[in-house]
Amino acid sequence: MDRIGKEYSITLLGSSHGKLVGVIVEGVPAGTELDVELINMELHRRRPGQSRITTERIESDSVIVETGIIDGKATGEPILAFVKNKDVDSSYYDSIKNTPRPGHADFTNRVKYKDHHDHRGGGRASGRMTVGLVIAGAIAKQMLRKLGIEVYSYTKSIAQLVARPINITEEFIYSDKNLVRVPDENLIEPFIDYVTKVKEEGDSCGGIVECQILGLPVGVGEPWFDSIESKLSHIIFSIPAVKGVEFGSGFAASKMKGSEHNDEFTLDEEGKIVTETNNAGGILGGLSNGMPVIFRTVFKPTSSIKKEQKTVDIKNKTDVSFKMEGRHDPCIVPRAVPVVSNAAACVILDLILSGGYYQIE
Ligand SMILES: Cc1cc2nc3c(=O)[nH]c(=O)nc-3n(C[C@H](O)[C@H](O)[C@H](O)COP(=O)(O)O)c2cc1C
Repeated sequence: MDRIGKEYSITLLGSSHGKLVGVIVEGVPAGTELDVELINMELHRRRPGQSRITTERIESDSVIVETGIIDGKATGEPILAFVKNKDVDSSYYDSIKNTPRPGHADFTNRVKYKDHHDHRGGGRASGRMTVGLVIAGAIAKQMLRKLGIEVYSYTKSIAQLVARPINITEEFIYSDKNLVRVPDENLIEPFIDYVTKVKEEGDSCGGIVECQILGLPVGVGEPWFDSIESKLSHIIFSIPAVKGVEFGSGFAASKMKGSEHNDEFTLDEEGKIVTETNNAGGILGGLSNGMPVIFRTVFKPTSSIKKEQKTVDIKNKTDVSFKMEGRHDPCIVPRAVPVVSNAAACVILDLILSGGYYQIE
């Protein structure tokens, strides 16, 4: 079952070309104020068809909340919320049923589930399934905000082009308004030009989404297996096309000395214990240390490309050449930005609830 979380648990529903995609959310206390329009705002940020560098599939993606919220307040029942799939053309997928796309989940799903797998549009392996994650995250973000916790994400890099470090609150707002969701104005055009170029070549590219979680008190996370790193990695690696996650200085830590990597403690103007650097990414011993939790997520280049590649006809057992048609994101990264922050919000809320940090009036 596609379910994750203990105290705040989510179950994903639907498939790319089925009737709907959505989520069942459990664990929201009765009486919690929830604004359905804020869910739509998050969905709008993930939605396809927004620009020339995303898939041309057009989906209005307006949430339908079937149970669990009445008059802007949670009832305490499971929340069933979804969006209907409308702009669906499955005919092409029938024609490639026996020729798995290189780099996509067609091959493994076909072998494991045989003819019972919904192959249309990638079925359950599609990026469209992240609609459910975004709905659940949009609910979680509203609950976290009451505790002063905010989750931000933005494009850190596309291919070789890397954005400079940012001042989160001001530059994040700016990043959210441009097509590539980058907080560095000097990189907007280079990012767009690069993605447009690879698209014209019938190819695709990958990149990195950075996420920052601000306002966590010291101590959120449960050793061992529910450490913040383990919980975040679990949900982030569940997002299709994710190939890597690193916290703080991440893989660069392997090249540093202890004296460089250690974040020295000091007191800020208000007497709060902080660290001078944040190589730990806000986490020590699996628990938040009060600094921003920072992690980066690597998205691979989109596998569905128009360039000719080799595959195998799995029925006839012959080598064949393959070119993917249809509508695809030449770069997943800009649309994955809200997916990462909403996925992160779900597990952070789960840890907040299990740690007893959440009290409602
Ligand atoms: C928001 C989002 C949009 C995506 N759009 C596409 C797409 O248009 N075409 C495609 O081939 N893959 C797309 N993917 C990625 C595939 O779903 C994914 O690569 C595939 O299921 C195989 O899984 P894996 O890459 O995790 O191994 C998208 C992923 C996300 C998160």
